[in-house]
Amino acid sequence: MRALTWHGKGDMRCESVPDPRIEHPRDAIIKVTACAICGSDLHIYGGLIPEMKSGDVVGHETMGEVVEVGSETQKLKVGDRVVVPFTIACGECFFCQRGQYSGCERTNPDRKTAEKLWGHSPAGLFGYSHILGGYPGGQAEYMRVPHADVGPIKVPDGLSDEQVLFLSDIFPTGYMAAEFCDIKPEDTIAVWGCGPVGQMAIRSAFLLGAKRVIAIDTVPERLVLAKSAGAETIDFMQEEVYERINDLTHGRGADACIDAVGTEPETDASFDSRLDRAKVAVGLGTDRPHVLRQAIQSCRNFGIVSIVGVYGGFLDKIPMGSAINRGLTFRMAQTPVQRYLPKLMERIVKGEIDPSFVITHRAPLEDGPALYKTFRDKADGCIKVVLKP
Ligand SMILES: NC(=O)c1ccc[n+]([C@@H]2O[C@H](COP(=O)([O-])OP(=O)(O)OC[C@H]3O[C@@H](n4cnc5c(N)ncnc54)[C@H](O)[C@@H]3O)[C@@H](O)[C@H]2O)c1
Ligand SMILES: [Zn+2]
Ligand SMILES: [Zn+2]
Repeated sequence: MRALTWHGKGDMRCESVPDPRIEHPRDAIIKVTACAICGSDLHIYGGLIPEMKSGDVVGHETMGEVVEVGSETQKLKVGDRVVVPFTIACGECFFCQRGQYSGCERTNPDRKTAEKLWGHSPAGLFGYSHILGGYPGGQAEYMRVPHADVGPIKVPDGLSDEQVLFLSDIFPTGYMAAEFCDIKPEDTIAVWGCGPVGQMAIRSAFLLGAKRVIAIDTVPERLVLAKSAGAETIDFMQEEVYERINDLTHGRGADACIDAVGTEPETDASFDSRLDRAKVAVGLGTDRPHVLRQAIQSCRNFGIVSIVGVYGGFLDKIPMGSAINRGLTFRMAQTPVQRYLPKLMERIVKGEIDPSFVITHRAPLEDGPALYKTFRDKADGCIKVVLKP
């Protein structure tokens, strides 16, 4: 089959690789009808994710048609149309029973490496390095889906691929980010990053009843899209973010702050961003947490900091003094996607949201390598890429 493979920093290729096959009775194989490039894939593209091997098949936002099932797979049948969560979960362990699917303790066969870095291992993920299981991803013609009765959700008739594809990741992620904020009717939610995840967080915050959303980015078309959802916007390259948020909130700060940027913010945003860049470049740091610092400082007393932007290691100069003295709550996760699927599918079916509003680029799989670059550089008005193998 054809698939997108990683060969080092900035080197994605579309090439022929062996077809996946059933390896366990609970597996299914899907023929991919649509897949997307995620902001998290950019961390792989940028060479930031350790334990990637040359030739690894990438991608974790995937849907398709079931073409083969293992002998113990019960819910799925050949011919079903399904969306596959990026988190692989067994459905039975301590964490899965609590709905904490991205903490599944059975799906990461390489857990020893993860434990060394993080203390304990999270779940395995599709297409996301050998720290997280080394599972071949879904930017490909076919994908093997382990624990096929636990992850995939069937698509009701009448919904297009584009309407449901983002249930695999960015819609539940943005929704979770907003849900973490425990939104009350008078609340103002500030969202850093108007990429696809930020856009889902902004709309989810309104769905969950926020009075105001303040959206922060610098890319004009992303700010325009945020505005069209009803957000007030701040261009962080033109304006002082902390001051502006104070102006908009009676000097108190936002009720909750969402970091939908993570470890790769724009370097020229501030002095601390440039310092982070220098430290990471010489191996004195693992991450560049400028946005997290700003979100903490801009949050009101006893407010909530909701983190869905991804960080990898040990973060420098986090203002814990601010956080503890002012009673902030931190919430964060790789999204336990399975937990959100039924209710978010229902919101799509009811027409409360159509997540396809973020798509700007549609192309065949062969164009994937070029579109990784376009998406990374935010060139050509690119906000979200969907590939159709
Ligand atoms: N927690 C999860 O389960 C999960 C799931 C999906 C994605 N993610 C993470 O979410 C993050 C966003 O993903 P995306 O697909 O939207 O990516 P993206 O790279 O398209 O979007 C990031 C946005 O942040 C903006 N930005 C850069 N510096 C900024 C600053 N200083 N202030 C405000 N905005 C700034 C960029 O201009 C860009 O629009 C990534 O870190 C990704 O890894 C996490
Ligand atoms: Zn993702
Ligand atoms: Zn489990």
